[in-house]
Amino acid sequence: MKVVRTPGEVREQVSAARSRGTAIGLVPTMGYFHEGHLSLMRLARQESGFCVVSLFVNPTQFGPGEDLASYPRDFDRDLELAGREGVDLLFAPEAAAMYQPGASTYVEETSVSRGLCGKSRPGHFRGVATVVTKLFNIVAPDLAIFGRKDLQQLMLIRRMVRDLDLPVRIIAAPIVREPDGLALSSRNVYLSPAEREKAPRFHLSLLEGARDMTGAKGEVAQILKDTARRIEERTGGTIDFVSAVDEDMQEVSRPEDCRYLAGALFLGRARLIDNVRIGAAGELD
Ligand code: PAF
Repeated sequence: MKVVRTPGEVREQVSAARSRGTAIGLVPTMGYFHEGHLSLMRLARQESGFCVVSLFVNPTQFGPGEDLASYPRDFDRDLELAGREGVDLLFAPEAAAMYQPGASTYVEETSVSRGLCGKSRPGHFRGVATVVTKLFNIVAPDLAIFGRKDLQQLMLIRRMVRDLDLPVRIIAAPIVREPDGLALSSRNVYLSPAEREKAPRFHLSLLEGARDMTGAKGEVAQILKDTARRIEERTGGTIDFVSAVDEDMQEVSRPEDCRYLAGALFLGRARLIDNVRIGAAGELD
């Protein structure tokens, strides 16, 4: 695995791979790899002949007072894990290599990104859309892999690719969970042992809410209220939101229109996000 630090070096490596007729796959990450990231790398390797992983804790997607400075980092461990997965190129730039001084151009999606996390983290998705566009321009991948745990991010990137005619295929990867149901996240390290024990109840309560939604036992607003109350009671955390949304991340008012039950929970120092998909035949995952 080659490690490079600048966009120019990425372009050199990618164009050499491309001249061999190889499809290029990109996995954008902020590092501190866990099994979820590794599953994205495996998928990229299956789908392409040259796997690029970017590792960049992107400052523009963190708001003031958020965890940019304390975001977990372990470059040496990441290096070893990515190497073991057969990643071809690891792009790990410094912020100065990604953002010119006085950078003033952003990419902003104005519908998919508005609700849910977009409401509680103003500017977050503008930072995500901007850095992902830059990574697409630098790497020029044929395909890019995003996990479904960050559901709104995935849908926003799909919309952006469609709207801006970006020539990249977006592949969604399933949520990877701990055996007790907690979705893997780099931020799970913020949980104390007691919080970690209670954290899976977030997912279990979302599943219960999704089941109520498919059984249409009541109005959406009431199901959301009950789900939020159960999550708070069972985890001791504070709900940011629980929302019933369609594929475009718009809130729905009829249970039969709900495609995802999505939530965000403050638990100690962590802000956890998770979602349950409701399939056409009412199946949940
Ligand atoms: O999901 C993430 O880790 C980040 O939001 C991404 C897509 C790498 C952009 O910084």
